[in-house]
Amino acid sequence: MKISVIGTGYVGLVTGVCLTDVGHQVTCIDIDEKKIESMKKGHSPIYEPGLDELMKKNIKAGRLYFTSDYASGVKDAEVVVIAVGTPQSKDGSADLQYLEKACRSIAQSLQNDTVVVTKSTVPVGTNEYVAKVIRENVVNDVQVTVASNPEFLREGSAIYDTFNGDRIIIGAEDDETLATVARIYQGFDMTIVKTDLRSAEMIKYASNAFLATKISFINELSNVCEQLGANIENVAEGMGMDQRIGNKFLNAGVGYGGSCFPKDTQALLSIGRNVGVNMPIIQSVIETNDKQQRIIVDKIKHRFTDLTTKKIAVLGLAFKPNTDDMRDAPSIKVVRELVDAGAEVHAYDPIASENAKVYLPGATIYHDSIEEALADKDFVVIMTDWPEFKDYSIENYSRLLKQPVIFDGRNCYSLADANQADLEYHSIGRPTVNQKE
Ligand code: UGA
Repeated sequence: MKISVIGTGYVGLVTGVCLTDVGHQVTCIDIDEKKIESMKKGHSPIYEPGLDELMKKNIKAGRLYFTSDYASGVKDAEVVVIAVGTPQSKDGSADLQYLEKACRSIAQSLQNDTVVVTKSTVPVGTNEYVAKVIRENVVNDVQVTVASNPEFLREGSAIYDTFNGDRIIIGAEDDETLATVARIYQGFDMTIVKTDLRSAEMIKYASNAFLATKISFINELSNVCEQLGANIENVAEGMGMDQRIGNKFLNAGVGYGGSCFPKDTQALLSIGRNVGVNMPIIQSVIETNDKQQRIIVDKIKHRFTDLTTKKIAVLGLAFKPNTDDMRDAPSIKVVRELVDAGAEVHAYDPIASENAKVYLPGATIYHDSIEEALADKDFVVIMTDWPEFKDYSIENYSRLLKQPVIFDGRNCYSLADANQADLEYHSIGRPTVNQKE
């Protein structure tokens, strides 16, 4: 099929590239010309494992194109996919200005009957608005139908998730449109759920909000476990064996971050408010996460009352491993508070340091390796569970740090290993090992 994808952020670019890999001809459109020029050469503007290789392969095969020109990019597409950003407005709702602009540009460029599919996460009812804006602005005599096809890929494993997700959700007003969108996914071995527009839109918010709820739930429990001497990992394992609960997304830590959960939970609250429904569960999920993002600072301040003379190593800045994304990363709050308390922060992240410079205080010192960050520092804080950290022998910390004290915000090490290495080890929801003071 001939498909055009509007917007080359995580969702748009990964979707476009993956669709070429199953044989479709895809044109990716973005208003950022610099980005387009670099993507034409097979360079992805985002860090996503495997994406550059897949781009190069499909550009070479003549299936993947990039342009900043709507007219040529959209004109003969059977399906146009909208994947522009829907950032958070001041009041928490989704800001639809980019979506609206995309709709107007699409309308002016269409020359054939087309199905317009929205992949961007949008408030319930938005697809009907998309249909209205496009139909009101078309310049040629064309029929446009719309479909909602929310995206469930995770940053860092986006390509894997695109081909191996649990389901494909398609919402549309009529069976013909549902069938056209389903044809896009013929090469995918995934269950397709066909539904109405509004339910499809709601499935996306409900899924992200539920996953965020699982995380805040386990984090809240982890704080109780710490007070009672129970171990949250054992609790999560025991709970997760019940298939009605499931064992995923029960890792306690310094809270969720990223461009999706924080924004989508706020947007869901706003969706509820607009129809007069309060959502106290979602509200408290957000509050619990806000507190959890800085819980490690409380632990540090409890252990070291004066931070003004301290040099602190921070391992991991990205909101999760395998991404350079710093949006809403818990490290932002933590590093700011440590710097505000007078500490000197020495950070290392395998790939997010460049992006981090925009978010973290100017005084932060960046290093090129774990060793460099740890050497002669007073103690270390682990903020992201990068495989590089998990594989790094815990024995090294006592050798490199001035004081062998670890505050692990992602439970990267086992308590037994910390004990054996004779380290003072504070983690989340688990008993502290070798607490000295
Ligand atoms: C999330 C969803 O998982 C995707 O299904 C969805 O498509 C995407 O949002 C989106 O709406 O675009 P993502 O934000 O990339 O994906 O990352 P996740 O892997 O879900 O992690 C989100 C945050 O939760 C991270 O900060 C992670 O460290 C944290 N987390 C995750 C925990 O603290 N504990 C867990 O058990 C799992």
